[in-house]
Amino acid sequence: IALLTSIMQITRNLTTEGLRMNRKVSKAIFPVAGLGTRFLPATKSVPKEIMTLVDRPLIQYAIDEARAAGIEDFIFVTARGKSALEDYFDVSPDLEAALESSGKNDLLEILRSTNMESGAVAYMRQHKALGLGHAVLCARKLIGDEPFAVILPDDVIAAEKPCLQQMVEAYQETGGAMVATMEVSPAKASSYGVLDIRSQNGPIVSVKGMVEKPPLGTAPSNLAVIGRYILTPQVLANFDQVGRGAGGEIQLTDAIAAEVTAGRDVFGYRFEGQRYDCGSKAGFLQATVAFALARPDLRDEFAAFLTEMHSVKQAAQ
Ligand code: G1P
Repeated sequence: IALLTSIMQITRNLTTEGLRMNRKVSKAIFPVAGLGTRFLPATKSVPKEIMTLVDRPLIQYAIDEARAAGIEDFIFVTARGKSALEDYFDVSPDLEAALESSGKNDLLEILRSTNMESGAVAYMRQHKALGLGHAVLCARKLIGDEPFAVILPDDVIAAEKPCLQQMVEAYQETGGAMVATMEVSPAKASSYGVLDIRSQNGPIVSVKGMVEKPPLGTAPSNLAVIGRYILTPQVLANFDQVGRGAGGEIQLTDAIAAEVTAGRDVFGYRFEGQRYDCGSKAGFLQATVAFALARPDLRDEFAAFLTEMHSVKQAAQ
């Protein structure tokens, strides 16, 4: 009996270990092909993802979050006019040498922390703007047979534990496909993918359907999809059956919803943290203020300025 018990224990350990291995998420796709028309004229020559929150480009926040979650391979789905992004991830030997010789070690360290390992970054071009689903599908060949993450850099999430890391940890327990989710007002639901909820257990929401940009008043819940995903290669295979969806585009939401139809698990994860919609001007400004106030080197001066602005505005009313 003792022998049998230990064999069973070993088998259980191996199965758990096997599951962990299968659930290792080491690749992330960053869809960055969008034209960023909402930020024209800035985006005429600067990719939206290079626009800065305080002094870091949007894309750097996404990279830092991915790294914290254990991502090792970074796949950017880009488009014409986005070469500044590729340059951003290249090393800058001249700049590094100049900073080194002038003894600006703190700046040198900041610069070096943005360097990516050789071979860790891949670029795919999306030749036609056919939607988010299509952008993700462009990276299919680089994904192979492993689960992978998708990060939309427009959704910036300030959190003690980075959002993707929270999800990767939850995913070790759940498997399936997982999307970040948060509550939005009914008036805003039609700007998002929205979850149809089966049941909830703490932060984990079991999903029985997903609708991309439901017309006003038809959303199945107030839980919206936010731009962090952990997906299986099967989701990419679903695109073979998924046609064009909301807005005439190939939607990622539809390929994930097809998992539910096929009887496989899909989960929402109610992350802890504050999300900023940096795809909109108001959201970008809110993030700028919040991130500046969180910076020890700027906080006091900036807070004093905001207080002054506020009192000037009140006095004028
Ligand atoms: C995309 C997704 C949508 C999701 C949103 C989150 O929409 O298609 O499901 O809710 O990101 O930001 P987009 O903002 O690109 O229209």
